[in-house]
Amino acid sequence: RIRQRERLYRVNEEAAELYHRYLLNAEAARGAREYLRQRDVPETIIRTYRLGYAPDPEVAGWNFITDTLRRKDLPVVAIEQAGLAVRSDRGTWYDRFRDRVLFPIYDMTGRVVAFGGRILGDGKPKYMNSPESQIFDKSRILFGLYQHREAIRRQRQAIVVEGNFDLLLLAVHSIDNVVAPLGTALTRAHVRTLRGYCDEAVLLFDGDRAGLKAAMRSIPFFLAEQVDARVALLPEGDDPDTLVRRKGADAVLELVKAAKPLDEFVFEALVREHGLTLEGKNRIIGELRQVIAGSSDEGQRSLMVAHFSEKLGISPGQLLSGIQPGKAAPE
Ligand code: GTP
Ligand code: MN
Ligand code: MN
Ligand code: MN
Ligand code: MN
Repeated sequence: RIRQRERLYRVNEEAAELYHRYLLNAEAARGAREYLRQRDVPETIIRTYRLGYAPDPEVAGWNFITDTLRRKDLPVVAIEQAGLAVRSDRGTWYDRFRDRVLFPIYDMTGRVVAFGGRILGDGKPKYMNSPESQIFDKSRILFGLYQHREAIRRQRQAIVVEGNFDLLLLAVHSIDNVVAPLGTALTRAHVRTLRGYCDEAVLLFDGDRAGLKAAMRSIPFFLAEQVDARVALLPEGDDPDTLVRRKGADAVLELVKAAKPLDEFVFEALVREHGLTLEGKNRIIGELRQVIAGSSDEGQRSLMVAHFSEKLGISPGQLLSGIQPGKAAPE
């Protein structure tokens, strides 16, 4: 078991180094370097985060990483378990990541446990991550936490963004107390991890319905872990990446400063969306019930009921009626 895990770490470490050197040096990585330049990611950032590039199979074949690692005496089963090689129907292996910019994902001891990969330009899927493995549980790991742990500790605050490029571009602009979940909603385990480093999280989510949904679902987690959470509303059509490029660090820091407590943010967003007509209130109640049902703790549920019913100007009983208690929160 331990040997197996050690092998996975070694596979990922060797791969991270190979992909990184390929991005920095290979002729065939010209397009990837140009892509990063267009997105204003400088070489210092490429080095700090050890960004890489998985080559295009038309140039490097379908077995670039798999063959290179095997030549280093790493067993192909380990390469497959790490998610870097995929087994075909014919029983041969090919590289999972092809023609993508790669972001190594670190655990808190600085070991590479996974990769995230973005396609250059348009195409689907836009992002691809390593599958979960013995060493990679995506509901616990946050991109950037390893690199940013000292900044987060110092400021007692973590800024949570949705995407890897959001994090990189904020770092380019010297905002470095930032983390990003790996294409998943924030989980309770993420919040618990953050609690070890800070007292407060500021969510900088896209100002769309998906962003609001994600903010809503996280309310019970922050309450349970006793981490304060605030949310900043990004201008329509912006994410932190585009905003910081257009308007600079100060604009982002202003948003962070003005961020509203999570519960207030959610309530106001729901009122904006549904209005306070009878029908609107009815819909808001429906959405808040789901939030409340996301908590497995009786005390927390009644706290939220009392809080939101007062905001709605209804009795706790009116908000509560019909809520099924005890639907445990997913971890
Ligand atoms: P850019 O276009 O590179 O700026 O991406 P983005 O980070 O702005 O992407 P978006 O706002 O659409 O999505 C936010 C995050 O969701 C991404 O950073 C990814 O982690 C994840 N995500 C987006 N698209 C995909 C996808 O096609 N597959 C997977 N697995 N995750 C995705
Ligand atoms: Mn979005
Ligand atoms: Mn988007
Ligand atoms: Mn985005
Ligand atoms: Mn983006």
